[in-house]
Amino acid sequence: MLSIALPKGRIAQDTLEIFEKIFEKSFIFNDRKLILEVGEFRFLLVRNQDVPAYVMHQSADIGVVGLDVLEEKKEDLVRLLDLGIGKCKVCVGIRDGEKLDYSSPEIKIATKMPNITKNYFSKKAMGVDTIKLYGSIELAPLVGLSDAIVDIVESGATMKQNGLKVVETIMESSAYLIANKNSFIEKKKEIISLYRKISNEVKP
Ligand code: PRP
Repeated sequence: MLSIALPKGRIAQDTLEIFEKIFEKSFIFNDRKLILEVGEFRFLLVRNQDVPAYVMHQSADIGVVGLDVLEEKKEDLVRLLDLGIGKCKVCVGIRDGEKLDYSSPEIKIATKMPNITKNYFSKKAMGVDTIKLYGSIELAPLVGLSDAIVDIVESGATMKQNGLKVVETIMESSAYLIANKNSFIEKKKEIISLYRKISNEVKP
């Protein structure tokens, strides 16, 4: 049995569709259920940011998670494959018509990703004060909580509709297939076999 942590939402949906194509059967979570067992697979539905924890503690052997989350958490996991789904960018955003003041001794940045943020600005030798938020990040500069944000941009609609613009792109992200290091040794045959099938499916 292989246990697979999936991030709730679009990426879980897209991943299950990949499994449906490969195994030619349906992989559908029942209503509010968080566990789905089909054949030799057990899928766990978790929050995006929690995928590395489930895989790190081996409650899941493998998982699917955005590169942005992997970079933020820096857990010691095996990165098996870029699935090419869930594409987005991690960007610095500010209010339209404003400029980022690079000379300011400390810029206040609201973000879900304080590690990526601090790392990026320290390379530019800029001091930042990060304010950790858990969602609706775009609101922060509109009400004076921060000077700027570091957030995920997919279509750009959320920033646009809230009068913000992208001033810098920190990284591009997409969803990766990851594995627990011990599982990768203990269940090598199953994981490699699945890896091959998925890579054939996503890179035809
Ligand atoms: C993400 C992100 C932005 C939005 C970007 O939020 O934090 O708010 O999506 O997408 P867009 O560029 O297509 O508009 P999410 O939907 O995950 O909600 P959250 O703010 O509660 O984390």
